[in-house]
Order: sequence, then structure tokens, then C-alpha cells
Amino acid sequence: MERILILDFGSQYTMLIARRIREMNVYCEIVPFNRIPAITPDVKGIILSGSPSSVAAENAPQPDLSGVPAGMPILGICYGAQWLAWSKGGNVANSGTREYGRAILSVKDSNDPLLKDIPAESQVWMSHGDTINSLPADYRVIASTATVGNAAFRVEGKLIWGIQFHAEVHHSEFGKQILRNYVLGICGCAGSWTPASFIESTVASLREQIGSDKVVLGLSGGVDSSVAALLLHKAIGDQLHCIFVDSGLLRKDEFSSVLASYKGMGLNVKGVEASDRFFADLAGLTEPERKRKAIGKDFIEVFNAEAKKIKDVRWLAQGTIYPDVIESSAVPGASATIKSHHNVGGLPKEMELKVVEPLRLLFKDEVRRVGKALGLDPNILGRHPFPGPGLGIRVLGEVTREKVAILQEADAIYIGALKRWNLYDDVWQAATILLPIKSVGVMGDERTYEYTIVLRAVTSVDGMTADWAQLPYDFLAEVSNAIIRDVKGVNRVVYDICSKPPATIEWE
Ligand code: XMP
Repeated sequence: MERILILDFGSQYTMLIARRIREMNVYCEIVPFNRIPAITPDVKGIILSGSPSSVAAENAPQPDLSGVPAGMPILGICYGAQWLAWSKGGNVANSGTREYGRAILSVKDSNDPLLKDIPAESQVWMSHGDTINSLPADYRVIASTATVGNAAFRVEGKLIWGIQFHAEVHHSEFGKQILRNYVLGICGCAGSWTPASFIESTVASLREQIGSDKVVLGLSGGVDSSVAALLLHKAIGDQLHCIFVDSGLLRKDEFSSVLASYKGMGLNVKGVEASDRFFADLAGLTEPERKRKAIGKDFIEVFNAEAKKIKDVRWLAQGTIYPDVIESSAVPGASATIKSHHNVGGLPKEMELKVVEPLRLLFKDEVRRVGKALGLDPNILGRHPFPGPGLGIRVLGEVTREKVAILQEADAIYIGALKRWNLYDDVWQAATILLPIKSVGVMGDERTYEYTIVLRAVTSVDGMTADWAQLPYDFLAEVSNAIIRDVKGVNRVVYDICSKPPATIEWE
């Protein structure tokens, strides 16, 4: 296997560089600048990425590249480029004005391999407060902008380059090409990292890591835990014990259908019906955070009780993915700690489980590609995000079995219609919410006094921001009619037209 190492100095763009390289089917890893691993022959190149710091500042991150073999291709981006110049005697100082936004890059050396197929002039994206005023003697400028003379440089006779703009962002028109020139051209990577090769190497390393031990994993019905389970199952078969808890707060018939589909995929899975306990603990609770905490606590306790029954279990598997890992390892910091989403803290001490996270190197779309290659049920693969506390936070106010049953019926009508109208995959997430108030209506000749259902549908890329989806009126009319006609206890349906921010996707 070949890989590119990206040294992290704390920039928001570092993950984007990794994303771009993975898109070339080249495996890359982000490592903190002060924890550079041993450089094995599979490392084909090193990228020094950006940082909010100034190179000459007292606490500026200073990488130690003494372990990097001579001849290893190096590319500095933004701070990385400034550090490469500054550490060999170049002058880097505050540019007076922050250089931020679009600029036109003029190529000075069209024969340079980093600039292969880059037009004489193209748009790039700048974002830096410092600038390189002068380069060390053996450094040569290969491209400039109107205000940044040393926008790109090469070290004579060495495979070392620096660029002060952000090739990884969308606004740098030929940025992808520059990164391709570096990774595929200069570093000579083959671009053969695919879901299939990931599965093969991960399965082999899981077998070696786990041996004949037993592993326990909590399935949620979502993509990440399902793909993690399939990978582990491929590696260690029935040594993997999966637990799928029915909280009573899943969608209509979801527990039984997802359990059946897990079994159909050959997983060694135990379904645990625990809804009585969840409803009992939710009784009387109306405040959203208290409801969330009660549900979370019940999940952990039910999971633990089941996990304890598995004799000699040694490992806890989790579906943690790459963005969680990166966001957790703050830079700078030898002191950086991994955040508490590794919820091992919730497990009983005497179990002393080791954690295995087979997806910790993958982005979400890569998880989906791996899941597809492993034959994950398309119904699970393409499913909308669903919150851990489930319908418990979509029945506003106190949660009862009766209210959840009403919501499940309305939700099934809505989701079914989205699929029938081929709208399901156009929205990022759709949900129904049951409001804790009643209003007056008329059905037949009777006065009604019943609940209101909210329909929510949003478009989004990552759930951090979202816009309400402009679903067709005819569709909304059909769903509204069907819900009021078929769901006992509901006489009004409304559509949520708020974006996030200022609203959130879920109502609690
Ligand atoms: P909000 O409501 O914060 O939701 O806009 C953003 C995304 O996160 C999901 N969500 C959760 N997912 N556990 C989860 O696994 C939770 O407690 C939780 N709360 C919200 C939400 O459905 C949306 O996709």
C-alpha cells in the first residue's frame, strides 16, 4: 500500500486536503506535526498543511523533519510553505493586510512538474496573514499573484515545493490538478486505493489484531455501525456479537425489518426488546435534555447487561469515522486527547474492553462505498440520518407509547410517499414531529379536537447547516390528506419552513 502523510498544524483546511487526495484513490493520513510516525517505504510524499499561527511566533508549530529520508517529495501549503522558506533563512512577516480570497496566479515556470497543465493565469484562493517576503538562496519562484510574489516556489535540485494559496479549496480553479501533479506525478502514486483494496487490507489487519477473541458491537440500524459490523463479520465471523436494542422509539416496524435484514446478511445479532424500560424512564419527562439523557442512559445499561452475558468478550467495536477522529485530535498538542465520543466510559470497569474502530480512516461517502462493496442492504445504505434518541425527541413533551404509535403511523405514510414520489433521495433527511397540543377541526359533521403532525424535510451536506426542502404542493397535499384520513388522533398537518440556523433539524 502507498500513502501520503499530511502534517496537521491546526488549519481548518487540512481535512479538505485529505479529501482531495482520497478522491484520487490514494490513501492518505493526517498526523499531528509533532507526532510524525516512522517513515516506512509506503510513504510516497509528505504535505505540510496550514495553520492559524505565524512561523516566527514563540509557540508556532515547528515540525522535526530529521527522520524524513532525503529525496522524499515534500509539498508545503500556506503555513507549510512559509515554514519551508522561513526554516532555511527566508523572511516571513505579517503582510500588513490579510491576504484573503480570490487572486490570479501567473505561472512563471510552465515546465515545473507541479504546474503541469496549469494555464498561464488561473484563479486561486488565498487565506493568510503572513507572507514570504524573501526566499532562501536555492529557492526559485515558479508562480506569483499581483500581491504575492512568492506564491509558489521550488527548492532547486530537490523534490520540495511550497504554495501559499489553498489548492484544496473549490475556489482554486486548477487546485485539484496541482494536487494531482504532486500526488500522482511527483510522488508517483498509482491511485489504486479502492473500497475493495480497503476491505482486503482491513480484513487482514482485523484478523491479526483480534485473533480468536470475541468482539461486541452495538448496531443502530444506521450506515456506520452496519458497515463496521459487516467488515468485522468478514474478518472474524461469529466471533463478532452484535446487539440491536429496541427502545420502542424506532420507526414503524423498523426494529423487526432491520433485524431481519441483519440476519439475512449473516450477522450474529441479538435483538433486545427493551421498550418497557425506555417508556417507564420517560414517564413524566418533558424537558428535551432530560429526555435525551434518560434515553442515552437506558441504551448504555441495556447494552452493558447484554454485553456482560457474552463470555470472555475482549473488544468493543464502534463505527467511529474519520471526521470524528480528526475533530477530536486537536493540534497543537502532544497533549491532545481523543474526545469522549469514545463512549467506553459508559462501560462497566470490570469488562475492560479494548476498542476497535475499523472505519476510523474513512469519510462518510467512503463508508457508503465500502458498505455497497460488502453487500449492505440498499435500504440501510441509503437511509436518512436518524437521531440516536429516535422518536423520543420527535414526540415533543412527554413521550408515551400511544403518542409514539400515532407518530409512527404518520411517519410511515410520509416516508412511504417520499419513496413513491422518488423524492426520498433528493432530501437529506425527512421527519415527522408530534406536537403536544390539540386543535379543533371538523370531520364529517363532527367536531374534532386532536393532535398536529409537523412534516419536516431538509436539504443539507453534513447536517451542520440545512435548508427546508421545497417539496411539491401536490405531494404535500397527498401526504396531509392521507395522514388526517388514516391516522387516528391527528386532525391537522403543517410543514416546517425553517432553515438551520436559526432552527435545528430536530425539534428537541
Ligand atoms: P440538529 O437537530 O442538531 O441535528 O440540527 C443535526 C443532525 O444530527 C442528528 N441528531 C442526532 N444524531 N444522536 C444522533 O446520532 C443525537 O442525539 C442526535 N440529535 C440530532 C439529526 O437527526 C440531524 O441529522
